[in-house]
Amino acid sequence: MKVLVVGSGGREHALCWAISGSPMLTKLYCAPGNPGIAEVAECVNIGMLDIPTLVGFAQDNAIDLVVPGPEAPLVAGITDAMEAVGIACCGPTRAAAQLEGSKTFAKEIADAAGIPTALWERFEDSDAARAFIRRRGTPVVVKADGLAAGKGVVVAATEEEAIAAIDAMMDHKIFGESGSAVVIEECLVGEEVSLFALCDGENALLLGSAQDYKRVGDGDTGPNTGGMGAYSPVPSFPPKLETACLEQIIRPALREMVRKGTPFRGILFAGLMLTEEGAKLIEFNVRFGDPECQVLLARMKSDLLPALQAACDGELRDFDLRWDDQAAVAVVMAARGYPDAPERGSVIGGLDQTSAIPGVSVFHAGTEAGPDGTILAAGGRVLTICGTASDIRQARDRAYAGVDSVAWSDGFCRRDIGARAL
Ligand code: AMP
Ligand code: GLY
Repeated sequence: MKVLVVGSGGREHALCWAISGSPMLTKLYCAPGNPGIAEVAECVNIGMLDIPTLVGFAQDNAIDLVVPGPEAPLVAGITDAMEAVGIACCGPTRAAAQLEGSKTFAKEIADAAGIPTALWERFEDSDAARAFIRRRGTPVVVKADGLAAGKGVVVAATEEEAIAAIDAMMDHKIFGESGSAVVIEECLVGEEVSLFALCDGENALLLGSAQDYKRVGDGDTGPNTGGMGAYSPVPSFPPKLETACLEQIIRPALREMVRKGTPFRGILFAGLMLTEEGAKLIEFNVRFGDPECQVLLARMKSDLLPALQAACDGELRDFDLRWDDQAAVAVVMAARGYPDAPERGSVIGGLDQTSAIPGVSVFHAGTEAGPDGTILAAGGRVLTICGTASDIRQARDRAYAGVDSVAWSDGFCRRDIGARAL
């Protein structure tokens, strides 16, 4: 099989790494990729949102399967465009990607399917939204309806914060049209976990769960990021609870998507809050998480490629995936200044010795190749260092041993990834 992965982050490096080990693979491309991905795939310099050029490349190179990593090309319709020329693409259509692209769409699906989730209300008028907050009180959660690069959610403890969020999103349009409507939600309290399933429209296969660290600083301080680390498995979310959430959240959502005429294929990511009343849905995403993907794939024993193909073919019913008993911990190394203004261009050394440590994998994200093969920082999140071992404690020690062997004085990471699971 010839495969094209789309994206350039640590998640896409992990996808390429997993797919590159498949006996079914004959050729692996990644667009646009990064220097780490270039070690396992041929990188082609096409932007992930340049869908016509991606389609042309896939046709010219007889690609059998396209695997988009991030949500943006999915929401922009990459699956529809590939399928229109007869190329399989393991992701939802533009219509089904609204499960992530529109908070309102996701909440309507959840309510229609009877999925436990926070109470919510949608506003297109900022005065009405402010009046609702004054009436209802806090804490409350204010969300831009559309995509906002993971920054469109404000958990407001006070009325002032909630109203400032509405002013910024709806009146000052800090997220553009994504904020022309907002969803205001009840604030859920508990521990957060991310649950992943591979879906073929009707059937869903569990890919496991992980816990993500969203804030930039130790002890969950500072601004939100794309994710600073993750671990799997999650002791507070045992397999029995995973299966219950598959039945009560993922499968009902798939049935409702079929009923609406927008069946969901690809990876469904349910962000959950483990509340005192049980697990509740926070949001759906239509792709793997980053860095959750890195820890899940590090634990996967089965060949990922036939599973992705089966998802496209609607043949997941009889499929089975196997997982290692091992635990995995991923630590993200980011460039100083992330998430506001990451500094670019510093030299990163020592990566060969890092990946030579037993049980340590290095995944590249915002890196670029400098002169004479040096690796330079070229983004916010730059590397994911993943440790695997028989338990979380050792996996964590391995991940940090890996981090400490990277020679990059301009990078930083959180020091408490996985500590919560000990
Ligand atoms: P998102 O950017 O949509 O992933 O949301 C960011 C974060 O906001 C989530 O990971 C939660 O920590 C938090 N959040 C979103 N919705 C709620 C809610 N209804 N109650 C409490 N926290 C929430
Ligand atoms: N790490 C969270 C996400 O990918 O959305």
